[in-house]
Amino acid sequence: MEIVEETKPFAESLIWTLQRDYFKENGIQAWTNSEVPHYITNNPFLAHAYAEIVLHFLKDIKRMKSQTNEKVYLIELGGGSGRLAYRFLKYIDEFCKSVSGEFPEFCYILSDLPPKNIEFWKDHRQLQTFVERGMLDFAIFDVEKDTRIHLIHSQTTIDVQSLAQPLIVIANYFFDSIPHDLFYFDNGTAFECAVHLTCDGLTDNLSPAEQLKSVNLDYQYKAIEKFPYEQRFFNDLLELYRSSIKRSHVLIPSVGIRCLERLGHLSNEGVFLLSADKGYHLLSELDEQDEPSLVHHGSFSLTVNYHALRIFCEDQGGQTLVTPHSHQHLNLIGLLMMSNSADYIDTKAAYSRFVGRFGPDDFFSFKKHFEKYFHKMNQGQLMSIIRLSGYDAHLFKQCIPYYRKLLPKISSQDKRSMLFVIQAVWEGYYTIGEDQDLAFEIGTLLYQMDLYNEAVVFFERSLNAYGQAAPTYYNLAICCYMLANKNVLNYLDICLQLDPNHIEAATLLKTISDEGR
Ligand SMILES: C[S@@+](CC[C@H](N)C(=O)[O-])C[C@H]1O[C@@H](n2cnc3c(N)ncnc32)[C@H](O)[C@@H]1O
Repeated sequence: MEIVEETKPFAESLIWTLQRDYFKENGIQAWTNSEVPHYITNNPFLAHAYAEIVLHFLKDIKRMKSQTNEKVYLIELGGGSGRLAYRFLKYIDEFCKSVSGEFPEFCYILSDLPPKNIEFWKDHRQLQTFVERGMLDFAIFDVEKDTRIHLIHSQTTIDVQSLAQPLIVIANYFFDSIPHDLFYFDNGTAFECAVHLTCDGLTDNLSPAEQLKSVNLDYQYKAIEKFPYEQRFFNDLLELYRSSIKRSHVLIPSVGIRCLERLGHLSNEGVFLLSADKGYHLLSELDEQDEPSLVHHGSFSLTVNYHALRIFCEDQGGQTLVTPHSHQHLNLIGLLMMSNSADYIDTKAAYSRFVGRFGPDDFFSFKKHFEKYFHKMNQGQLMSIIRLSGYDAHLFKQCIPYYRKLLPKISSQDKRSMLFVIQAVWEGYYTIGEDQDLAFEIGTLLYQMDLYNEAVVFFERSLNAYGQAAPTYYNLAICCYMLANKNVLNYLDICLQLDPNHIEAATLLKTISDEGR
């Protein structure tokens, strides 16, 4: 057994360096190859919930400070692919267009640690319109140390006390990926936890993801009488846990909390945090937890101690937005950390409506249940679920095989409804270069629906996004054939150049020649 690292406090372990290296090395690839799971935290239903809460927050600001027109900034920490930001901005934009002038100006700062992610966003065609209109900017922001936010597009810096409006912070599938302190409590005794890393073979030539997978964590415990923090808040929190937890490992999100403090210094009005993750917000849920096991997916994630974040917020005189029930997959919480938090009544009502009553966690549970029954659902029911999801492309892709089966039975009225859904799905789809070519899939579905003009548009989109491919040219050719469009020969020609053995293309060419076209 090789020693990878001698005993170190959990938060200082090499695993966190490897975690950062993983994201820095892989950039957007971490998402395109689906290594980092992201459907649950980037789907339109969740984006819609965030957007509604933020819209009501802006409404509260406007009501309370009707004279102030300074921009309201929102920073998303660890924005990853940018898919959540895109969907969020689409909702906000649609909404603001319909009620112009009612809200303060708004800018979304999409931030992350790896420069590769920022480069990807800067070049992303679908984000450009928001950048040009001042609704979106980018920043490299390291939550472990940064004290100000430099906006890359507008070349301005948000410095200490420079904001006259509260700063909104989104930490979406984020707190579980940054360093935490670890303690163990056993019947009134507190222990500091450290880790010793070993490995079965040498790790020298392995990538960060491979190293993370190959290391074994050996936890070590040291009983403590005095709590180690300089800040009163953390020591009070440990005392609460020592006196109320029977036996459990407890993660303390000290890096996340300190980052919130630093972000709080940027605004005279405080911070409003929205965060979603797997995590516990009830004290009772923290008990009887084993030592953390790293959930690996290229990087790794832990379970967030939202209870500690709640206590931090309340310690500052803030108010917390949590559901009365425990979550199943994704917990979405809000922390209102402003001096007048109690006055944000529309924000609180929006949280109750869009999270408490039926939120992203409920939607995800429903989806997981329904996907087992897609084969039994009719076209109307499948369409309803896509509408409920907010025209979710991932869900739509899952439904395509079932739509195909239903096509022979559906009316032309149903086809028109389906076309509307397809267009709305495409409108909300943010491309990150994933393997499955959605435009091609939609093109073939439209062809089967006899909607040849519409199919051509999607095959052309497929060519733009995924490059030249014989099947795409063949499909363009058959659409043109059905439309009696003379481009058919041109497309067949390219198809056969790319794949001289394409039997269907050769057959169609012969048919055309036999028909004397
Ligand atoms: C699990 S991913 C989640 C990404 C995205 N929010 C999502 O839901 O798909 C964690 C993100 O945190 C970022 N990250 C890790 N350490 C960070 C740090 N010290 N400062 C800022 N971002 C960090 C990573 O680059 C990555 O984008």
